[in-house]
Amino acid sequence: MYEVLLRQDLVPNIHLFKVAAPNVAKKAQPGQFVVIRIDEKGERIPLTIADWDREEGSITIVFMEVGTTTHKLALLEAGNFIADFIGPLGLPTHIEKFGTVVCVAGGFAVATIFPIARAMREKGNKVISIMGARDKSLIFWEERLHSVSDQLIVTTDDGSYGRKGLVTEPLKELLETAEKVDRVIAIGPSIMMKFCAKTTEPFRVKTIVSLNPIMVDGTGMCGCCRVSVGGVTRFTCVDGPDFDGHQVDWDLLFARQRIYLDEERRSFEQWQSQCSIHS
Ligand SMILES: Cc1cc2nc3c(=O)[nH]c(=O)nc-3n(C[C@H](O)[C@H](O)[C@H](O)COP(=O)(O)OP(=O)(O)OC[C@H]3O[C@@H](n4cnc5c(N)ncnc54)[C@H](O)[C@@H]3O)c2cc1C
Ligand code: FES
Repeated sequence: MYEVLLRQDLVPNIHLFKVAAPNVAKKAQPGQFVVIRIDEKGERIPLTIADWDREEGSITIVFMEVGTTTHKLALLEAGNFIADFIGPLGLPTHIEKFGTVVCVAGGFAVATIFPIARAMREKGNKVISIMGARDKSLIFWEERLHSVSDQLIVTTDDGSYGRKGLVTEPLKELLETAEKVDRVIAIGPSIMMKFCAKTTEPFRVKTIVSLNPIMVDGTGMCGCCRVSVGGVTRFTCVDGPDFDGHQVDWDLLFARQRIYLDEERRSFEQWQSQCSIHS
């Protein structure tokens, strides 16, 4: 069992947990993830490792409430336990001195991109970060991302904070005007990653995205996380989650992410009605 050491509500529907998991903390690298199961009857879900403390033996995860499992997870408090916390899984993000690296994050992925931006900066890259959210109320970790970036641009869709618009707009401007951009890392909702990749393609700047298909085992056994990259079938959990955004078959990813929408909706409704019976 894995104890929740700390819980923080970053914004109303995005929460941070620090979890005691010394074996995961020992080996965690930027870009890797864990698969968790809240209790023995629970569903397994993947969550990115947002940070780690090897001395304390803890892992930080940041998650958004979207369906049954993430809502159940949000009910836990410090002192509660998670049944399974398996990792680190997936290949770490490729970190080297590229020159200028632009890190683009949408929504909860600010937490996902933070250890990558930090590692890129430690390698001697100039790091320009762009973080975007729907509105001001969903902004978190601005200072934290700023602390590992040479420059930080914040956007909101409605203009309630930072620059009004989507993250692709400052990204395009940087590609047009800044000194040479050597690599872009874009992490967030799939549609955002697709359009970041579309934005960089004409500039021929390698763009790494972190794919988020549905996963079950997280170890390459079930085939659930199958994606197509450069016409080749890859399993996100063992071959990724990072892939070349210019090579991803986005339509296949979107279609596969929607396969269980009805079941997900039914599961959530069932769980909500159980909650209301017990309250
Ligand atoms: C490698 C990897 C790393 C991830 N890291 C994080 C993270 O750090 N923080 C975080 O909040 N989430 C992360 N996700 C997504 C997270 O796993 C899903 O949000 C979670 O499985 C949803 O479970 P649920 O039972 O709450 O919702 P479900 O009932 O499974 O889904 C409810 C709705 O959420 C959306 N959804 C479901 N699965 C995904 C998915 N894989 N990606 C995007 N939207 C989805 C769909 O709209 C769906 O209808 C990651 C996914 C992958 C593959
Ligand atoms: S999650 Fe089963 S193969 Fe990747």
